[in-house]
Amino acid sequence: MDKAGARREEILERLEAEGGVTPESVARIALETGVPEADVWGAGRFYSLIREPGRRVRVCTGLSCRLAGATHRIEELERSGEPREEVSCIGQCDRAPAALDPDLELIPGTGTASSVLPDDPALPVNLGGADPAGYEALAKAQAAGPESVLGIIEASGLQGRGGAGFPAHVKWRAVAGQAERSRYVVCNADEGEPGTFKDREIMERRPHLLLEGLAVAAATIAASEIIIYIRGEFRDAKRSLETALKEAAGHLEPFDIRFANGHGAYICGEETALLESLEGKRGMPRLKPPFPTENGFRGKPTLIHNVETAACVPFIIHHGGERFRDLGRTGAGTKLYCVSGHVNRPGVYELPLGVALDELVETAGGYTGSPMAFSPGGASSGFLPMSLRGLPLDFRSLDREGSMLGSAGVVVLNDTVDLVAAADWQTRFFDDESCGQCAPCRIGARFLRNACGRFRTDGDPDALLHVEDVGWEMEEGSICGLGMVAAKPLTSAMKHFPDAFRRQR
Ligand SMILES: Cc1cc2nc3c(=O)[nH]c(=O)nc-3n(C[C@H](O)[C@H](O)[C@H](O)COP(=O)(O)O)c2cc1C
Ligand code: SF4
Repeated sequence: MDKAGARREEILERLEAEGGVTPESVARIALETGVPEADVWGAGRFYSLIREPGRRVRVCTGLSCRLAGATHRIEELERSGEPREEVSCIGQCDRAPAALDPDLELIPGTGTASSVLPDDPALPVNLGGADPAGYEALAKAQAAGPESVLGIIEASGLQGRGGAGFPAHVKWRAVAGQAERSRYVVCNADEGEPGTFKDREIMERRPHLLLEGLAVAAATIAASEIIIYIRGEFRDAKRSLETALKEAAGHLEPFDIRFANGHGAYICGEETALLESLEGKRGMPRLKPPFPTENGFRGKPTLIHNVETAACVPFIIHHGGERFRDLGRTGAGTKLYCVSGHVNRPGVYELPLGVALDELVETAGGYTGSPMAFSPGGASSGFLPMSLRGLPLDFRSLDREGSMLGSAGVVVLNDTVDLVAAADWQTRFFDDESCGQCAPCRIGARFLRNACGRFRTDGDPDALLHVEDVGWEMEEGSICGLGMVAAKPLTSAMKHFPDAFRRQR
């Protein structure tokens, strides 16, 4: 148990600042914060950037980087003897094959700027536009008052862009209606789904838009503190936000805005794992209910939003909810789609919610090679065949096919790809990133990894006999979304591409 007045929330930042988990750093931090040594040790070891902070190149092994030659890059580094580590995904799929230097800066030569659409003020986020610091939407929202703003957000039909597509106004009202007066706004900027890099682009290109959206939310639900939990590897994005925060100081005076660094754990993108991490603990998801809107950061009502969700808010306040809603095709508003893999211009494209794959890829310069499969929403969405290319990329249509839009990290695979290998890479990702808290996910993810690995080695389909059953158990019995989708890459590949999984030898 912590000593009275123990400062647990500090321990992760301090461990990172002290160069990671060592007997000395743990003893010192435990003494100074009042958190037991075992807890400091246990929490710190959970996070890859704290556990293994050493000086080495981090090579991304996410799907898009693998497609672009990450394996070759790893072999080259191996030959050169340079210290290196293979990491799950670094959120640079448009610059594949990507790697970070020992200071977590992108290694030059792994691509330059992500492609975005040119300036168009009709787009709510408009990545290609200027990023004015006038904060007029905030002033307008403050003048209109909370009830009016809640009505506008409801009319907009804005759904969360972090993956679940939950209606924003429901969460805003839930927090606003709590009797507890101490409330928080938390921005989920931990973007870690392989294939997804839109939040990074918003933070780099439109930091004021994001800050303004968060401020409108805080003013509406009467929260004075805003915490931006930002992925530890996003150095440029954080610098951009820090500069914007200084520029906007006059407008943002009523709010206490601070950053918390992610420390290299994909699961901390899950909102309750994120809250645990903010509180200085291992990032293990909480059982829900209670939901964060009632019992969030420090047990207080907390509004958690994805970067893109918050960035849509200023446009909605400026132009009204209906204008935003009508921009969508099969759902409300525009959507930032990330496109990588076998396309000519990987990037982030803001298009009506519900476009189909061909239209999206046309915007991204067209396919390279002959397309065979696509993953519409990151690793969590599995693989779909090109026969489903006409589906609207929205929150409902993909669900009906057993897939999901998730965070809209669209990855295209052409017919040069070994789909069994691709399913294997994604399956390993989930096994590596499971927090290990609940048995179906912990044991199931390892089982799937071993099964797929055995099939790749032996070519014997018997290795895959129980994959469906295990996948079902995981979906039904896991605490959080990671375990619920971890079987998708393998089960969807087996379903849609059965030939790839027939006896090989
Ligand atoms: C395994 C897992 C990873 C997630 N990663 C992210 C993430 O990186 N960024 C994000 O905004 N939401 C992520 N989410 C969704 C969040 O839990 C949460 O729904 C979201 O932050 C709420 O914001 P929104 O309503 O604006 O979408 C993740 C969920 C799961 C289950
Ligand atoms: S489903 Fe997996 S990641 Fe989620 S809580 Fe359970 S073990 Fe952790």
